Amino acid sequence: MGHQYQVVSWNRQKRIYDGVVLTGILLFFGAFTLLQLKLHPEITFETLIIRATAVLAFLMLHIILCIGPLARLDKRFLPLLYNRRHLGVIMSLIALTHGVFSIYQFHALGNVNPILSVFISNPNYNSIGLFPFQILGFFALIIILIMASTSHDFWLHNLSPKVWKSLHMMVYLAYFLLVGHVILGVLQMEQSPYLIGLLALGAGIVTSLQWSAGSKKRNQEIGKEQVQDPFVKVCRVDDIAENRAKTVLIGKENIAVFKYDQKLSAVNNLCRHQNGPLGEGKILDGCITCPWHGYQYLPHNGQSPPPFTEKVETYDVKLIDGWVYVNPTPYAEGTPVEPCPIHSIIARN
Ligand code: HEM
Ligand code: FES
Repeated sequence: MGHQYQVVSWNRQKRIYDGVVLTGILLFFGAFTLLQLKLHPEITFETLIIRATAVLAFLMLHIILCIGPLARLDKRFLPLLYNRRHLGVIMSLIALTHGVFSIYQFHALGNVNPILSVFISNPNYNSIGLFPFQILGFFALIIILIMASTSHDFWLHNLSPKVWKSLHMMVYLAYFLLVGHVILGVLQMEQSPYLIGLLALGAGIVTSLQWSAGSKKRNQEIGKEQVQDPFVKVCRVDDIAENRAKTVLIGKENIAVFKYDQKLSAVNNLCRHQNGPLGEGKILDGCITCPWHGYQYLPHNGQSPPPFTEKVETYDVKLIDGWVYVNPTPYAEGTPVEPCPIHSIIARN
């Protein structure tokens, strides 16, 4: 469905996002080069590239891992989610530059194949402290490159969103491998331990953000056992802003209840594109618009407007005494459900 779903006003946002990323990269390279030249005036061009790209790629990976939980904790970070894939692809190219320069500098000048040399030049596989740390970076790089090369929608549709999502969860394995790569690298290359301090700070920030976003989600969860009637209380109708939604997790059902034109409709919160949170988007031109890449769905039937074919599940909603209730038993994807009128019930109360 792709480009036809881009909302015009977001294209400008996308350009600003790209501009900010590229400016940030240039500023980083400038500042890092000046710092390295001051600290190590004898540094070679190759070593400078290896270090600058290593630190930048690793920093970008931290930012990528923080964007998801930040956006869940505070809606003001939502614009960062848009184009996050672009950030991932740029990070992969920077990480590749680091890997290629490292292999060239440390493995290309002997008579062994450079890739083979990464695996055999340091045979200390049975030692923790002397373990060949570059291998950890090598496998992390493979994961990062697989993720970047499958990030296009072509792969999403061919692999199915579920497989695609599982593949992209490997980013956490890559992160874990890189933590080992950096710790062992710093120890073995006798580098300044400041990197270990930064690493601990980065890991602390990523872990605590992921944990906080997870516990926010758990707090929103309503156990099915507490439900006597199929309908579950969600919130006051006034708590939902016009053209926005309230999300609720009931058992395994992740539901977004939208308020628009004096009506309420509930759909599954997960966008068919990449499981983006529909409930964090808004209704534009009568359609629920995913905040990640702009896929759209009609609120009353969960169907993408023609010619698109994506569909999400729909749910029954009711209003009693100004409280919104939803029945978590889903209708099949794309099933029309009569929206719940707001004005008539409020008038009755
Ligand atoms: C083929 C894959 C890789 C190889 C052969 C490799 C090799 C190396 C080498 C030799 C060093 C020590 C460089 C020095 O300080 O002079 C290093 C450090 C480092 N690498 Fe990698 N690496 C690879 C992949 C990665 C990836 C994918 C990342 C991150 C996305 C990464 C992040 C780092 C970091 C943060 C450091 C410490 C930076 C510093 O020395 O100041 N590496 N790597
Ligand atoms: S549009 Fe991409 S996840 Fe919804």
